[in-house]
Amino acid sequence: MAVENCSHDEEAGLLTGKISSCSKSKCWFQILLASVSVVLVISVISWYPSFGGRFIQSTNKKGSIIISKSLDNNPLHFAVVGDWGRKGAYNQSWVAAQMDKIGQGQKFSFLISAGDNFYENGLSGIEDPLFEESFSNVYTGENLQKPWFAVLGNHDYHGDVLAQLDSALVLRDSRWHCGREYQLLHQLESSAHGGSYVEFFFIDTVPFVDEYWQTYHKPMDWRGLLPREEHLVQKLQVLSKALESSVATWKIVVGHHPIYSEGSHGDTVELIERLLPILNTQKADLYVNGHDHCLEHIKREDSSINFITSGGGSKAWKGMKPTPNKNGVKLYYDGQGFTTFTVTSTHLHISYFDVYGSVIHEVDLYK
Ligand SMILES: *[C@@H]1O[C@H](CO)[C@@H](O)[C@H](O)[C@H]1NC(C)=O
Repeated sequence: MAVENCSHDEEAGLLTGKISSCSKSKCWFQILLASVSVVLVISVISWYPSFGGRFIQSTNKKGSIIISKSLDNNPLHFAVVGDWGRKGAYNQSWVAAQMDKIGQGQKFSFLISAGDNFYENGLSGIEDPLFEESFSNVYTGENLQKPWFAVLGNHDYHGDVLAQLDSALVLRDSRWHCGREYQLLHQLESSAHGGSYVEFFFIDTVPFVDEYWQTYHKPMDWRGLLPREEHLVQKLQVLSKALESSVATWKIVVGHHPIYSEGSHGDTVELIERLLPILNTQKADLYVNGHDHCLEHIKREDSSINFITSGGGSKAWKGMKPTPNKNGVKLYYDGQGFTTFTVTSTHLHISYFDVYGSVIHEVDLYK
């Protein structure tokens, strides 16, 4: 186990990044602090009215957040949006309005942010007004007043990256939950009916990308991630173990960078080499990401995983025109939008929406 990395419980998915961010000397103090903030996050979230008893929040012994114990919100509905925080500009507010409109019918239990939460340079600190300007004051719709589970994107690393992980933000907007690595578990059917689950595995993909570590690259806030290689090895081990021990019917992995993409950034070779083999072996059903500012669905012959890019939260229209059906590309849409997911124990349905709230692509998976 890594010396520098003092995470005492490899399976404590919740806020692992926080716990592992400490230096040797401050280790125990920070673990204490992190534990206190975990408790704080959980308590604040459970007080939030929309959870109102029906949406009970707790963690299991493997560190997964239990997002619902009651089964009255089966099927589960949730939405994914990435690459959004631009004070409402570049159609961010328009996408937000459509998400709210669709949420009226679908009744999302929560929303997922696929990273690049605050442009251009993340948050400058826990007091940064950008948090309200780009999040709280934009996603104001009634049907978006649900927990938001976020990962970090590369732009978030240009600022104070620890600020986005800080529970101080939860006090400013109780919907906010951002972590480096964590899991969510949702029960779809009661034990009497086989006890099926859907589990989400959130992973911070930013430190995998070599380019960001080059001296010519714009500075990144790498606090808590050094030494890099040890951190990455441990992160992958934890993910692999968590996927392997998961009893969920559906396993959904969420990160900022695409594994495969036809967008302007394209494939992420580091993830093809290091993350994809684990997801293939452990039979993840979906890999969901942002980074390329577009909507994509890729299903290749050489992997059972469906690759979903939902990076259309604001600035888009890069002028990309990928060849349809190349490398299993089922959808490439260059503009803004978001995706919604409906999950039962036997059926997973994905809808892709554009800025007008029109469905532009659908995916159906069955167990
Ligand atoms: C907003 O969305 C419309 C419709 O897709 C598009 O034509 C327009 O270019 C978008 N505006 C920006 C700034 O991206």
